[in-house]
Amino acid sequence: MDKVKVGIIGCGTISPIYFEAGQKFDILDIVACADLDFARAQERAEQYGVKACTVDELLADKEIEIVINLTIPKAHADIHQKVLQAGKHSYGEKPLAVSLEDGRKVLSLAKEKQLRVGGAPDTFLGGGIQTARKLIDDGWIGSPVGATAFLVSPGPESWHPNPGFLYEEGAGPLFDMGPYYLTALVNLLGPIHRVTGSARITRPERIVTNPANYGAKIPVETPTHIAGVLDFESGAVGTLITSFDVWGSELPNIEIYGTLGTLSVPHPNFFGGSVKVKRYNQSEFMEVPLTHGFTENSRGLGVMDMAYAIRNGRPHRANGELCYHVLETMHGLLHASREGKHYLLESTCEQPEALPTDLPAHALNG
Ligand SMILES: NC(=O)c1ccc[n+]([C@@H]2O[C@H](COP(=O)([O-])OP(=O)(O)OC[C@H]3O[C@@H](n4cnc5c(N)ncnc54)[C@H](O)[C@@H]3O)[C@@H](O)[C@H]2O)c1
Repeated sequence: MDKVKVGIIGCGTISPIYFEAGQKFDILDIVACADLDFARAQERAEQYGVKACTVDELLADKEIEIVINLTIPKAHADIHQKVLQAGKHSYGEKPLAVSLEDGRKVLSLAKEKQLRVGGAPDTFLGGGIQTARKLIDDGWIGSPVGATAFLVSPGPESWHPNPGFLYEEGAGPLFDMGPYYLTALVNLLGPIHRVTGSARITRPERIVTNPANYGAKIPVETPTHIAGVLDFESGAVGTLITSFDVWGSELPNIEIYGTLGTLSVPHPNFFGGSVKVKRYNQSEFMEVPLTHGFTENSRGLGVMDMAYAIRNGRPHRANGELCYHVLETMHGLLHASREGKHYLLESTCEQPEALPTDLPAHALNG
């Protein structure tokens, strides 16, 4: 199968794992990279043996079919639109856009141009969550009744060298980390119908403790503790808490409660992890061997799936509709908190097709 040539825009902290995806996944051929900060693009280009160029040069490169957009959230929608205008498929880091309006613009441009748009997270394609999905699909916990999902932490200012953007609109624990949890839940349970929630900003300013920028002050634009309720179209009821205000916790990552048992789902920010089940007639949780591969850090798996989908004319799994549905869910939670009432989602999406269990390493088979 012909390789798909790929360019990367945004050469910051997360970019190395995507460059590595180009070396690991046979169908991807990363040929060029660009960044507003040209020195960063040059550094990555040297490191990974690709061409450094400006954003415009990259977009003008006729050989490139997919662009991976690894810029900061506020730039995501603009770059997606530039990529689509340049006649290329666009795959980006989460979230799809900051505002719903921009998210819709990206989807409708992709439709108009008959190009694909998609994005992170792709961790739901990893062995951990695919195993959990298989257990649900095969009836191990009966019919899903409810779910809980918790992302609680003290915030990223201790480990991220430039954490300012993570407290801007379009980030915070909900928009930065929520996509992992919500995408995993939609993959496991299908789309969401309505949400409600409460949100607060706990500290209006945060202090960076990462040595790279120690002591820098960050203004906080977006809620840092958000508690939500999610009603799925299937009738299952989910609880989601995302917070950068918690010093410690023993909460699980994700649990799914079914009429016949409970499923313990691994951390949705990772590809592997431990999947456990406790059926109504068992006294304890039992660990289940993972049924699927891609259990190591496989970021870029969603891009590989998009590349195979382009070559084989099938839908790709980490697609724009899924990203937009997750974006609308997150906005809905904040909207419900502001308005004091449920938010009914306008969007929906297909539950992504489960991966087969017999895939070769580092490749998909269709
Ligand atoms: N850092 C992580 O561990 C991590 C993990 C998962 C996802 N992400 C996501 O990846 C994205 C990037 O995060 P990061 O941590 O790499 O950020 P970063 O600030 O380290 O890097 C972003 C890069 O994008 C460049 N950039 C910004 N706007 C641009 C534009 N308009 N045109 C070209 N280049 C532009 C910046 O110069 C910078 O080099 C974010 O959406 C983030 O949510 C990050």
